Amino acid sequence: MTILVTGGAGFIGSNFVLDWLAQSNETVINLDKLSYAGNLQNLASLQGDSRHTFVQGDIGDAAVVGPLLRDHGVRAVVNFAAESHVDRSIHGPEAFVQNNIVGTFHLLEAVRAYWSELPAQGKSGFRFLHVSTDEVYGSLAKDDPAFTERNPHEPNSPYSASKAASDHLVRAWHHTYGLPVLTTNCSNNYGPYHFPEKLIPLMIVNALAGKPLPVYGDGQQIRDWLYVKDHCSAIRRVLEAGRVGETYNVGGWNEKANIDIVQTVCTLLDELQPRADGKRYAEQITYVADRPGHDRRYAIDARKIERELGWKPAETFDTGIAKTVRWYLDNPQWVANVQSGSYRQWVNQQYGAQA
Ligand code: NAD
Ligand code: TYD
Repeated sequence: MTILVTGGAGFIGSNFVLDWLAQSNETVINLDKLSYAGNLQNLASLQGDSRHTFVQGDIGDAAVVGPLLRDHGVRAVVNFAAESHVDRSIHGPEAFVQNNIVGTFHLLEAVRAYWSELPAQGKSGFRFLHVSTDEVYGSLAKDDPAFTERNPHEPNSPYSASKAASDHLVRAWHHTYGLPVLTTNCSNNYGPYHFPEKLIPLMIVNALAGKPLPVYGDGQQIRDWLYVKDHCSAIRRVLEAGRVGETYNVGGWNEKANIDIVQTVCTLLDELQPRADGKRYAEQITYVADRPGHDRRYAIDARKIERELGWKPAETFDTGIAKTVRWYLDNPQWVANVQSGSYRQWVNQQYGAQA
């Protein structure tokens, strides 16, 4: 048996592949185009492991995807591949439309062509799991109830609009063609191999480098945080037992204001690697201009996946963030390697040349 993972060289995808192979011997074909966010160093521990085959390619390229599905007799596709950073989507939305919408469309078509030719048993057992985000539901006011699977899609950023569009395509391919799909909508992830353009890894690497810690607006925006390995276990569980055609919200009941996250990271670093000058890392916090259209609050109601599939996160926010900060301290070479030329260019564009 074989699964096809797309985007498996990115943050969540690489964690998923590593966890999958730590728990099962089912082979993984990993299709990733290696955008700036794709990093084969995340998968270095799998070198020489015949259970993992990496293929550099685009989910939108049927000439690549079709033969991969057929040659390996793939029984499930887990689709992580996407452009994933909201700020980048504001500066350049086209890549999001292209990869997240058009790419998913072509992937669905290639999968449908393969699936429709499968014998009856292979056809009914096949799964297409689409990995999506809570951001498709839009923004909550302070006292609104958390997002359930019944909330309408009300995306506000080019990123979330592109993910919402891909969710709709996946849904339609089930309703119209019968493709056995599953969709997960997860809250903000954090953990090892997180590219340091996103809040938590950016704060860790900037703090250690003695740079400003840029907090957008008033820092009171709320996100619901989940340790990446808990997201991976949720995806495995949905793939195993999720009801075809259903969507499952995934979250850890960990709503936190951004400024509190940044303070927590600073406090952990104060304990684990104090500043040479004896000052606190929190002194590096700098309030900067807000993100345009910044969603105020996300919160996931994860009761459906808990009730139907018995899934629960293993980490609390306190244990997960401690592991994450420790991982970045233990892996300075990984950080140095991802801070390449294209990364510097992005930081200069977003935060100014002095950042
Ligand atoms: P990431 O940006 O770290 O990785 C994305 C990966 O996809 C990269 O390796 C990139 O090279 C690859 N990719 C992009 N376009 C591709 C294409 N057209 N063909 C093949 N490969 C392509 O993203 P991530 O944070 O790991 O997110 C993975 C998925 O999970 C995304 O679909 C994202 O929307 C979703 N998600 C992310 C979060 C989060 O907090 N990061 C939360 C919920 C859902
Ligand atoms: P991010 O990690 O980009 O995830 P998302 O926008 O998908 O939720 O940002 C998390 C929150 O942190 C979001 O409210 C924006 C904020 N943020 C900052 O305040 N400063 C930063 O430098 C970054 C990257 C994010």
